[in-house]
Amino acid sequence: MIETEKTILRPIELNDNKKIFSYRSDSETNKYQGWIPKTVKDVNEFISKNPKEFNIPETWFQLVILDKKTKMIIGDVGIHFIDNYQIEIGCTLDKKYHGKGFATETLKGVVEHLFNKLDKHRIVTSIDPQNIDSIKLVERLGFRKEAHFKKSLLINGEWVDDIVYAILKTEWK
Ligand SMILES: CC(C)(COP(=O)(O)OP(=O)(O)OC[C@H]1O[C@@H](n2cnc3c(N)ncnc32)[C@H](O)[C@@H]1OP(=O)(O)O)[C@@H](O)C(=O)NCCC(=O)NCCS
Repeated sequence: MIETEKTILRPIELNDNKKIFSYRSDSETNKYQGWIPKTVKDVNEFISKNPKEFNIPETWFQLVILDKKTKMIIGDVGIHFIDNYQIEIGCTLDKKYHGKGFATETLKGVVEHLFNKLDKHRIVTSIDPQNIDSIKLVERLGFRKEAHFKKSLLINGEWVDDIVYAILKTEWK
């Protein structure tokens, strides 16, 4: 579906449940995420909600990232087709694979696909201002900071700030 030098992306499958649970349930690494599964059953529910088709407005489509060498799942990417032209993305890597450039390379491939194959107009991402690794990641890709909303998201019972980064097709090189 989407391939980069070191990674392959494919739609999430029910059989991925245990692997997804192993890194998504790590509440310290994922402390800025809205969804942290408590059980494998939570993951099953999450996977079963994935749309059958890619690129359908008003849906989130979840892809897993495989390391090309080992074919192991190293993380996942969520793509929110807001409407026909605008996209929201999110990325989570298994902690073991942080700091090696996998997310940067994979998201580059995703952004390239969305702009150049699917002709999307704008991609946004929503980040907690304390999530420094994510901020560095999207800035590395050329996203611009567009907004800082104060205490606009209720996550795990706490109101937190939200930064929005975006990039237009015309800005993507
Ligand atoms: C967001 C997240 C995916 C970023 O992961 P990451 O490991 O920092 O990003 P990359 O895989 O692109 O790796 C980049 C790092 O590897 C280093 N690196 C090493 N080899 C590299 C290579 N060949 N190419 C590029 N970078 C390389 C970079 O210098 C950079 O490190 P630095 O930030 O200290 O400068 C990760 O922190 C995560 O999964 N967090 C939890 C989930 C989350 O909060 N997601 C965001 C909400 S959607």
